[in-house]
Amino acid sequence: MKITKAVIPAAGFGTRFLPAAKAVPKEMIPLIDKPVIQYVVEEAVAAGITDILMVISGGKQTIQEHFSRNFELEQHLTVNGKDDLLADMRHITDLINIHYIYQHELNGLGDAIYQAKSFVGTVPFAILLGDTVTTSNCSTPVIGQLIKAHETCDSSVVALEAVPPEKVSRYGVIDGEVVGDDLYRVKHFVEKPSIDDAPSNLAIASRYIFTPELFEFLAQTPRGKGNEIQLTDAMVLMLEQHPMFGLKIDGQRHDIGNKLDFIKATISFALNRAEFKDQVKAYIGEKLRERS
Ligand code: UTP
Repeated sequence: MKITKAVIPAAGFGTRFLPAAKAVPKEMIPLIDKPVIQYVVEEAVAAGITDILMVISGGKQTIQEHFSRNFELEQHLTVNGKDDLLADMRHITDLINIHYIYQHELNGLGDAIYQAKSFVGTVPFAILLGDTVTTSNCSTPVIGQLIKAHETCDSSVVALEAVPPEKVSRYGVIDGEVVGDDLYRVKHFVEKPSIDDAPSNLAIASRYIFTPELFEFLAQTPRGKGNEIQLTDAMVLMLEQHPMFGLKIDGQRHDIGNKLDFIKATISFALNRAEFKDQVKAYIGEKLRERS
């Protein structure tokens, strides 16, 4: 069944990005000139998603404003002949139909996704974390790669990224068996293992396709780490009854919710922009020489 629905959880406090995330949702922090969440929406649209549910919370209304029309601004740009900027503004609101739901108590990612139960209904759907941007090495966006894998295996598929072995203890990783090109059947999920206990270096990477049974398992998931309802815990329960797969993505993910990855993503996105590339390279070179 073709996947057309996506859920973007964006309600979290973003404590790792304080103080910036106090009044500005971390999902609205820009990478160069676009808020992180716009990249996420564009990824979904490029993969054929037609309906998005964003899970937000109090204080995150600027996300809603960003994707709504601002008639005064449009009028101002029209009067001043700024047609290119006007087209950019329209592009954001014409991208797709976005629906919003509030997560009233921030009980964790699993609870945020549970808010999407009626929106999803009985069809498979995508999840894209609202604070994580991906870049693809091929013409298919990362969530599109997962959708293709789902078409092959007709089950839930999680994105996997190979991380350096010394970093496995920061992530949830899989123990899996190769069943196709970069496709693994998941045997176990292991949350933040030590290097010695890690069954692989394949970390779960913020993009997912789930069959709707996920909601049954989210409903049974007790509070876990941080006293929150964790998506990974629901996945562990689901795996006992439903096959799940992992796809090693052809691309990278940038978790903007932590400061170092945000800095790296900003540099990498600037180096990919023709108008900034040479000057940014020259500036970095200059700064490195000054310090050596
Ligand atoms: P994180 O794991 O980064 O949690 O969420 P967080 O609470 O936002 O950030 P920290 O850990 O305090 O720094 C991953 C994604 O899930 C959303 C976040 O908005 C983010 O896009 N999320 C998280 C929710 O929607 N609700 C929650 O209760 C928790």
